[in-house]
Amino acid sequence: MPQTIAVLDFGSQYTQVIARRIRECQVYSKIFHYRTTAAQLREEGVIGIILSGGPSSVLAKNAPLPDPAIFELGVPVLGICYGIQLMGHLLGGQTVPSKQREYGHGTLVIRKPGRLFAKLPRKLRVWNSHGDKVTKLPPGFSSIGTTDNSPFAAIEDRKRNFYGIQFHPEVFHTEHGVDVVRNFLVRVCAAAQDWTTKDFIAHAVADIRAKVGKSRVILGLSGGVDSSVAAALLHTAIGRQLTCVFVDNGLLRQDERETVVSLYARNFKIDLRVVDASTLFLRRLKGVSEPEQKRKIIGRTFVEVFEKSLKSIGKAKFLAQGTLYPDVIESVTIGDNPASLIKSHHNVGGLPAKMKLELVEPLRELFKDEVRAVGTALGLPREVVWRQPFPGPGLGVRVAGEVTRDRLVVLRAADAILQEEMKKNGWYWKVWQSFCVYLPVKSVGVIGDERNYADVIALRIVESKDAMTADWTRLPYDLLQHISSRITNEVHNVSRVVYDISSKPPATIEWE
Ligand code: XMP
Repeated sequence: MPQTIAVLDFGSQYTQVIARRIRECQVYSKIFHYRTTAAQLREEGVIGIILSGGPSSVLAKNAPLPDPAIFELGVPVLGICYGIQLMGHLLGGQTVPSKQREYGHGTLVIRKPGRLFAKLPRKLRVWNSHGDKVTKLPPGFSSIGTTDNSPFAAIEDRKRNFYGIQFHPEVFHTEHGVDVVRNFLVRVCAAAQDWTTKDFIAHAVADIRAKVGKSRVILGLSGGVDSSVAAALLHTAIGRQLTCVFVDNGLLRQDERETVVSLYARNFKIDLRVVDASTLFLRRLKGVSEPEQKRKIIGRTFVEVFEKSLKSIGKAKFLAQGTLYPDVIESVTIGDNPASLIKSHHNVGGLPAKMKLELVEPLRELFKDEVRAVGTALGLPREVVWRQPFPGPGLGVRVAGEVTRDRLVVLRAADAILQEEMKKNGWYWKVWQSFCVYLPVKSVGVIGDERNYADVIALRIVESKDAMTADWTRLPYDLLQHISSRITNEVHNVSRVVYDISSKPPATIEWE
């Protein structure tokens, strides 16, 4: 059993972020419901407990309270925000509603570094978000840090190894936040820092096996990072009990289907069913040029085709998804609140409820970079693990206007050249996305002495951290020139290539 840090969840939106910070310190952690008993925690081999924040007031009538016996386990406890208020309230001090809600940045002055603040600057910019505050220390505690608003912003009971902090060390906005967490884990709990991606995989494999038993699991494989890593992980756990379905919607990039088949079916020996529904998708898209309508048609048709494909697979009990926590972390702050950084994003919304399948989501606690590390450890190639995002509706939103076979042929060929050049020059890995867009306009060109009235391709290459904002990439002119001349020379029917120099906002990354 690994050394486990228990995170007791009192409903904070940052609970998963605390768990992530702990993993960053290479320590294993598990999130528990706040009511988990001390006996259960002892059985789990817990070496330290973190009490998360939460939206309640400890003084409220139905305030979530932990089993008081957790303070008798003899293991260190760190209370964060609501957690420190709980300690004040339950251990014989006093927590009262603050006259002023403290919300946003503050400065923590460290009065006694001790073990929690060892090797840190004496002043830290920290993130607060609380209404109540501790006004009287419980017996055994002393103050180790203050803010303008509170003489008890950080407290410790050295004998029992209990710590409380009013601020959120887990959020990005707190300076040295991860160092505070690490100090608690290593200096206070004596955690070994030996938890690695391999351990995560071993654990996830055991969990998957325990959950699915001998039943069949279906996974919609898109070839993107998340579903690919989920497939590889599930395959490691349950082998041929996993069936992956790859829907060819006719809106894929050049060689995409073949690449997926070759990697998963031939290389990994995954039971992969390719459903060729391209004719159906393209028929339904005929005559439609309004972007939202196209998206709806593509989404609806996908669900229909996916459901139908399940009939031929036989009885399945589980649907696996590569859902991440969160799928997209937005680094913009809305209203100065880091909670708004988190946005979840579901690609296959609506599928499970309708199909009465139970969900398996082995990546749901991980962040993107952790998923990439898992994918790499499972032997997925760099092309998959570091693949740029590709929208669910595929080239359907990259052919501006009506989608036709002819337009797709032109777009695919141009896009393949762009991808090849981006990879060859190393730029593919540096940018967020790079792709071609087919524009539904014609432009005049000249080939030899002939007038050539043909298609226009736009290049869209952007940098971004999270897709919420983006800026166009300053690609070297010579490279742009080379890409443009290859596309106009090699792709039949393209007379002009333009470079999109709009940032997001006000533009979006995709054209539709
Ligand atoms: P926009 O165009 O809104 O795109 O700036 C932001 C990011 O999301 C991707 N995108 C999608 N992904 N289904 C997806 O799975 C979609 O319908 C979809 N639309 C846009 C886009 O490629 C970019 O990375």
